[in-house]
Amino acid sequence: DLPTRVRIHEVGARDGLQNEKATVPTEVKAEFVRRLAEAGLTTIEATSFVHPKWVPQLADAEQLYPLVADLPVALPVLVPNERGLDRALALGARRVAVFASATESFAKANLNRTVDEALAMFDPVVARAKADDVHVRGYLSMCFGDPWEGAVPIPQVVRVCKALLDMGCDELSLGDTIGVATPGHVVALLAALDEAGIPPSVLGVHFHDTYGQALANTLAALQQGVTTVDASAGGLGGCPYAKSATGNLATEDLVWMLRGLGIDTGIDLGRLVATSAWMANRLGRPSPSRTVRALSHE
Ligand code: HMG
Ligand code: MG
Repeated sequence: DLPTRVRIHEVGARDGLQNEKATVPTEVKAEFVRRLAEAGLTTIEATSFVHPKWVPQLADAEQLYPLVADLPVALPVLVPNERGLDRALALGARRVAVFASATESFAKANLNRTVDEALAMFDPVVARAKADDVHVRGYLSMCFGDPWEGAVPIPQVVRVCKALLDMGCDELSLGDTIGVATPGHVVALLAALDEAGIPPSVLGVHFHDTYGQALANTLAALQQGVTTVDASAGGLGGCPYAKSATGNLATEDLVWMLRGLGIDTGIDLGRLVATSAWMANRLGRPSPSRTVRALSHE
């Protein structure tokens, strides 16, 4: 059975642009976010309040956020710690995301912490956000495979998911950071989570497309009852602290599939494709999205 509605969590402006070699001017980022909203996306991850030395591409978060804050869409932002939360709250952010790892190697590389030290760092962030009625998403990276550790045992993923929910996260996003998941693995993980008392209704899926499996993995997740899907306009994306990560599932490819399945998203595919083609132009290389290439006439 498939859901009748799917919520797309657009990550192009954050996951996409965090990984670009060239730094995109703040005004171009703001226009990107505005055009995504005009194309009908309703949840658009805007930026990250992380250490500017760790992700220089998003060092302009203070300048960018006010330029998009008045858009009538949800604008979640990443915050790794209380310093990040302070910065986000000072600008009026109402949705934040912490980002944990299922593996020790990536926790160290991405957060300079062990898995449990990172969870301890998030604890006061989530508590303070919830006390302020701010919505909190908990990302979990390396849910399937890790570039240093190989295949990631499912119980290890379940443990950190539980910890994030116990902490007070409103929803989780299961990250296939390096894009190695296949549909059978997705079904097995969702089944194990369900058995552990974590239903698909609190889960989103976040697939990178390294091996071309992102759309197949998404369909498998939808069939298991997941209704929140992360995607990136034009297939932008990657992770600067996981070398083998490529772009996310392209929002256009997702919308094309959902349209064919009769699942409404409220997204104007033509406008979205035009936005990604415009962004690809600014970045100086073609979009990796097959749907963008098929539908753009530039
Ligand atoms: P650290 O070096 O351990 O930092 O980095 P620290 O806590 O020791 O603090 C050192 C200094 O940094 C202090 O300054 C802090 O104030 C400052 P000092 O007192 O020395 O002058 N500082 C900050 N400044 C501004 N904003 C902040 C901040 N925090 C500390 N928020 C830290 C630890 C977590 C900060 C660092 O590792 C970091 O910023 N990591 C972010 C990495 C990142 O953004 N990765 C990409 C996002 S995750 C992802 O892409 C995966 C995802 O897409 C899902 C998937 O695909 O799997 C979500
Ligand atoms: Mg990602």
